[in-house]
Amino acid sequence: MAGNTFGQIFRVTSFGESHGPAVGVIVDGCPAQLPLTTDEIQLDLDRRKPGQNALSSTRKESDEVRILSGVYQGKTTGTPIALLIENCDARSQDYEQLANIYRPGHADFSYDRKYGHRDPRGGGRSSARITAGHVAAGAIAKKILRVKNRIEIVAYVSSVSDIRANIDSDTLSLADVESSPIRCPDPVAAEKMRARIRKIKADQDSLGGTIGCTIRNVPAGLGEPVFDKLEADLAKAMLLINAASGFEIGLGFSGSALRGSQYNDPFVVEDNQVRTQTNHCGGIQGGISNAMPIQFRVAFKPTPSIARQQETVTRGGEKTSISIQGRHDPCIVPRAVPIVEAMAALVLCDHLLRQQTASL
Ligand SMILES: Cc1cc2nc3c(=O)[nH]c(=O)nc-3n(C[C@H](O)[C@H](O)[C@H](O)COP(=O)(O)O)c2cc1C
Repeated sequence: MAGNTFGQIFRVTSFGESHGPAVGVIVDGCPAQLPLTTDEIQLDLDRRKPGQNALSSTRKESDEVRILSGVYQGKTTGTPIALLIENCDARSQDYEQLANIYRPGHADFSYDRKYGHRDPRGGGRSSARITAGHVAAGAIAKKILRVKNRIEIVAYVSSVSDIRANIDSDTLSLADVESSPIRCPDPVAAEKMRARIRKIKADQDSLGGTIGCTIRNVPAGLGEPVFDKLEADLAKAMLLINAASGFEIGLGFSGSALRGSQYNDPFVVEDNQVRTQTNHCGGIQGGISNAMPIQFRVAFKPTPSIARQQETVTRGGEKTSISIQGRHDPCIVPRAVPIVEAMAALVLCDHLLRQQTASL
């Protein structure tokens, strides 16, 4: 089965290419009676769109979303919600030289091998442009989570290259993150990151980084063992984001170096509620949320398209070299922050709705 639909109850189907007329999503399974306006969806789209500052791609897209169906008199009707975002600033001529050359690090070769035919303009379907649809659908999921359970999702840039931020995610707000142009709420690290990204751009190269995410007010019980464990679904949701290259929850890989006595989160009772004293597991045990904040990180590789000369081959197998012009992000992590939030919201919303069928 083709892989363009995500979710079991809250189901999102994605369509579109980078330089086609539009990208978008159909959201099926959204409960009726949810108050919803385009403005609420637009807020998140504006955080993802290109051209936000000198450190991102200069492609100018207003990314204005249109709701084509599923909402009447400001409320969802329980029918499919179609969301359309037009592509307005495609410069396909930038990609003419790329139709017959494989960009190192990008998806040109693997798309060719799989389909035998592809749209090379702007990376076609492999472009991160399609994540505008993910973000639009995620905005609806976020609203459901907020209205039903006050669930709050905050993502932030936790590192760029080897520059790591020092952040207390327990108290972090969306406003803290958005007050930083690079979406890193540690001002000292943020300034170093900005300088490093400016330098790498001048060097005709690119950088990777990591995004941290914390989700608060998640009730205990979300997650469907054994194949749809909550952390497994979150990992899939994160790794399907373009250029994502790693996922870890709680202490993640560093936890593997600890002893059980150091790693285990002791149970305590506070205000008549059972909770854990620490949160090394990142809020999920046995694939099910335990009511502690869910905390995970996603690694992103450096942007593949760089102006620096690279060795490659043509579709016909001849050796050549390539210097990629066009408008590319020298480091994608600041723009990927709302995408991480959106994918987390889709997973949580789907599991919240599934939980309603878990017991009588
Ligand atoms: C927000 C965002 C912006 C991106 N911008 C670019 C870009 O300007 N140029 C580029 O080559 N790749 C960019 N990428 C990454 C590519 O889309 C991605 O590396 C490519 O589709 C290959 O997929 P993979 O890296 O997941 O294997 C971006 C990714 C994200 C999440």
